[in-house]
Amino acid sequence: MTGRLLGVGVGPGDPELLTMKAVRIINESPVIAYVSAGGRPSMARQIAAQCLAPGQLEINLTLPMQPIPEIAQAAYEEGAARIGAELERGRDVAVLCEGDPFIYGSFAQLLDLLGERYPTEVVPGIASFTAAAAAVRMPLVGRSQALTVLPATLPADELAARLARADAAVILKLGRHFAKVREVVEELGLLDRTIYVEHASAARERVVPLAALAVHEAPYFSLLLLPADRRS
Ligand SMILES: C[S@@+](CC[C@H](N)C(=O)[O-])C[C@H]1O[C@@H](n2cnc3c(N)ncnc32)[C@H](O)[C@@H]1O
Repeated sequence: MTGRLLGVGVGPGDPELLTMKAVRIINESPVIAYVSAGGRPSMARQIAAQCLAPGQLEINLTLPMQPIPEIAQAAYEEGAARIGAELERGRDVAVLCEGDPFIYGSFAQLLDLLGERYPTEVVPGIASFTAAAAAVRMPLVGRSQALTVLPATLPADELAARLARADAAVILKLGRHFAKVREVVEELGLLDRTIYVEHASAARERVVPLAALAVHEAPYFSLLLLPADRRS
């Protein structure tokens, strides 16, 4: 019998936002894996720290500073080989994922590499943008309105086209794309509707109207919310 590959969402930052299932699985799994990128410690591991048990083997899959696809793929393959070796020994491996594993999650790469060979389970987690909406205390969508989820990595014209059509939107992965996104939002006349949220649900959570934010880059754990107009 091989072990199970377990993709576990650990939520956006507040350890109280892990599900009971995530807490149990993390605590019971003999092997814990997580991704750390760009030299930063794994946020998912920090969020789940209280659930870890003594004696667990930890596999830290480190990605390079620069997002070079070939190097990242090699790192995933090396990590998948280490995880695969544990699964072959019959040991379950819980892969800790920030937020939800299937929202821009690196678990997708591990699933591609291992999912067909090993029994796999996914535990959903609270996503960053629902935690951000809670922080702002504004509904994102209601009635027949639609929510658009966008990565800031899109080219400006593509972002503009999608935002122009959206009832409500969230924009993730701001980082060095922040200035470009701000410009697009301003050009569309959406600046006053847009809210910036950093480290949603964590102790260092920060909520600022985008119009009041004078920076060129944003930290990794930040996003923009454009809640729908409740009167439309
Ligand atoms: C690779 S995506 C992972 C998203 C995650 N799987 C989720 O369910 O939200 C990383 C991006 O999510 C956003 N993010 C994750 N956690 C966040 C938080 N606590 N506060 C604000 N943004 C967050 C940021 O935009 C960050 O660049």
